[in-house]
Amino acid sequence: MDFKEQVAVITGAASGIGLAVAKQLLESGARLVLLDINDTSLQKEFGNRPQQVLLFPIDITNQSEVDKAINTAATHWGRIHILVNCAGITGVTNIKSHEVNTEDLQRVFNINFMASFYTAHAVLPYMIKQAYGRILHVASIAGKEGNAGMLAYSASKAAVIGMTKVQGKEYAEMGITVNALAPAVIRTPLVDAMPAEQVKYMTNKIPMKRCGTLEEAVHLILYIVSPANTFTTGFTFICPVEGLRISYSMQPKSFVPSHLCSCASSQIWTKDIEQEQKEML
Ligand SMILES: NC(=O)c1ccc[n+]([C@@H]2O[C@H](COP(=O)([O-])OP(=O)(O)OC[C@H]3O[C@@H](n4cnc5c(N)ncnc54)[C@H](O)[C@@H]3O)[C@@H](O)[C@H]2O)c1
Repeated sequence: MDFKEQVAVITGAASGIGLAVAKQLLESGARLVLLDINDTSLQKEFGNRPQQVLLFPIDITNQSEVDKAINTAATHWGRIHILVNCAGITGVTNIKSHEVNTEDLQRVFNINFMASFYTAHAVLPYMIKQAYGRILHVASIAGKEGNAGMLAYSASKAAVIGMTKVQGKEYAEMGITVNALAPAVIRTPLVDAMPAEQVKYMTNKIPMKRCGTLEEAVHLILYIVSPANTFTTGFTFICPVEGLRISYSMQPKSFVPSHLCSCASSQIWTKDIEQEQKEML
């Protein structure tokens, strides 16, 4: 995919998904504006490309720092075409809701939700002016389905998905698309830092029974923020798509208590699964 002359802002670009997206966009001709609190890694990965990359080693929960970085970058490059919000933390996991510490929950919300709002708030005026923009908020399947043991993370990512739906509608007629990505489990330092039990809980729900790779995530992200994506907005892409639709949202009827099967959609889904199982036999 060709991103020549496009300017992309990426948060969380010092590690994991953000780093992989930044490298791929750079290789595809884009100019980058990278925001991450980890200055050492930003310098190590991109310090030798000052012609193509602007580095902002900032805490993105500080709105005035975010505004300053975006305004400096817009003045430097003249335009901003793409925003990919990758920065995120899980907070404490593998605990039940009554064990959640309010300060930890607030910290997770500040990074996962508030900072995504700050960056979008800062880039949107530039995108509106040029009648073009592609925004991608990296949410999580936890925000769609709710992962036990991850209240703060799941709720903050649900808020990100809510914001995506709102912004998708608000800017749809201005040439700007706003979408979210809800990965299941992609092997990155964030996942490596989680308790093995929590990771197993999540990979058990994926038909492949494994983490996704960075390449699998980046491939989808690049399409979402490309000029080719003209007709999808306010949407939450799931990664991997088909596996999760079945394993997270649908259960064979025999596994679902009848009182949970009463809504029309569950009945349709369980019927589909039964039909699918018959066809497979
Ligand atoms: N890896 C997965 O399996 C997975 C699954 C679903 C969703 N996600 C989401 O994808 C995004 C990227 O995850 P990852 O696995 O690449 O994580 P990661 O830990 O590898 O990278 C996150 C980056 O965010 C940066 N960051 C954290 N707090 C910051 C702050 N206050 N200011 C600036 N930068 C900050 C970190 O320094 C780090 O470089 C996150 O939003 C995460 O919630 C990841």
